[in-house]
Parts: sequence; C-alpha cells; structure tokens
Amino acid sequence: MASSGATERQRQALSNAGTNAGEDQKRAAAVAAAELIEDGMRVGLGTGSTIAHLLPAIAARGCTGLRCAATSPATERAARELGLAVHPLDELGELDIAIDGADQIDPQGWLVKGGGGAHTREKIVAAAARRFVVIASAEKAVRELAPPVPLELLRFGVQRTLLLLSPAALRDVKDSPDGGLIADYLGPVGNARELAARLSATPGVVDHGLFAPEMVSTILIAGDGGVERRAGAKPSS
Ligand code: 5RP
Repeated sequence: MASSGATERQRQALSNAGTNAGEDQKRAAAVAAAELIEDGMRVGLGTGSTIAHLLPAIAARGCTGLRCAATSPATERAARELGLAVHPLDELGELDIAIDGADQIDPQGWLVKGGGGAHTREKIVAAAARRFVVIASAEKAVRELAPPVPLELLRFGVQRTLLLLSPAALRDVKDSPDGGLIADYLGPVGNARELAARLSATPGVVDHGLFAPEMVSTILIAGDGGVERRAGAKPSS
C-alpha cells in the first residue's frame, strides 16, 4: 500500500510540475508580448488563461494613455480591475496591436482558436489590429491541426446547421455574449484553407476558430529554452 501511495504522490508531483511549467511558459510568452506595448497604443486583448498572464504584465508596464478593446466580458472585467481602460471596439477604430492565445498553432502559422468560445470576437479584434501577436506555451505548437474546431452558430435552425457541418456538436457552455451557440466541428481538418472556406460558406455559421496565417503578424511560443519568435504572414507595420 505504501508503495502505491508513493507512486500516486509521484504522479501528482509530476502532473503539478507539468502544470506549473505550462503556466510559467504562458507567463513568459505574455511578458514578452507585453514588452511590445507602448504609451498611447490602442490594444486588443484576447481571452483565456494565457491572456490572464498578459493583463497584469501590460498593467505592470505602466504605459500612459493605453486604450484597450476586450474580446470577452471576462477579459473586460479583469482588465478593468487592473486599471486598464477598456472601450468598445467601434470607439477605438483601428488597433495598433492585438494579443491573444491559441489552442493549436501549426508549422504554416494556421491557428485553431475558440477553446473559450470567444473566437468570433477574437477574429474581429485581430482583424482590426495592424499587428496581431499570438502567445502560447510550447504544447500549443502542433505538427498538424486536429479537431475540435470551435464554431459559433446562429440559434435559428441550428439542428439543420449541425447536419450540414456533420460531424459537429453543440458544446455544453453558455451562449456567446452575442447570443450565438458554441459548437465544435469534429471531423478531420485536412487542408485548413479548404475547411475554413467550407465552414464559412455553411449557412448558420457565425464564425469558426480557424485563423489563417495572413491574419497573424508574430507568434511567441514559450518553451523550456525561452521564447521562440515565429513570423506570421501578416506584415508587422
Ligand atoms: C478563447 C481562445 C483562447 O485564446 C484559446 O482557447 C487558448 O486559451 P488558453 O490561453 O486558456 O490556453 O481562443 O476563445
């Protein structure tokens, strides 16, 4: 019994170490991205646990005149609590920079986003930014994209939409803040551009979590050896 208890403790320690390493990597990527923030910038803020490290890192920079647009109510709340000024996106117009996490990043720079169901707003904010920076821990860098690919669907006729998208399923989470249903496409990804086109062309799809390399300026992936910087296909003007 004693030895099986020890094994369980070892397993727990190993899994905690993994978790902490992942969090350290997210923090390292977030801190590297926060260094890109300068006085007076209009900044798009993503959603998720990596962004939870970014917000205090931006606040700690002490930049003046920052104006932020948030991709979710959770990010908006957390940013405000740290003293960051959050405005409606339409009030800010073009953003100087947007920073967000990702669920998967492939070698060509395609992203899967929307693990938190915020991908529709995240894509709008990313597209509003002159520079879109993605931050992630090393586990997010994959050789090949795999399902699930997050979706936001209109409520009207959603069962028909799911049939058209098959295999796809609703996710058991709250609606998006814009009233959309969060779902996942569960089939193979294959050619990401073809799948993105198919998902976009399906009636009832508000948006999907595939982000093309042309949307992304810079990817910062933190691993054990430091922060790797990958150039995206979008110029960093
Ligand atoms: C939320 C997202 C997140 O950026 C993505 O899910 C990564 O999240 P995390 O930083 O918690 O791993 O797209 O919709």
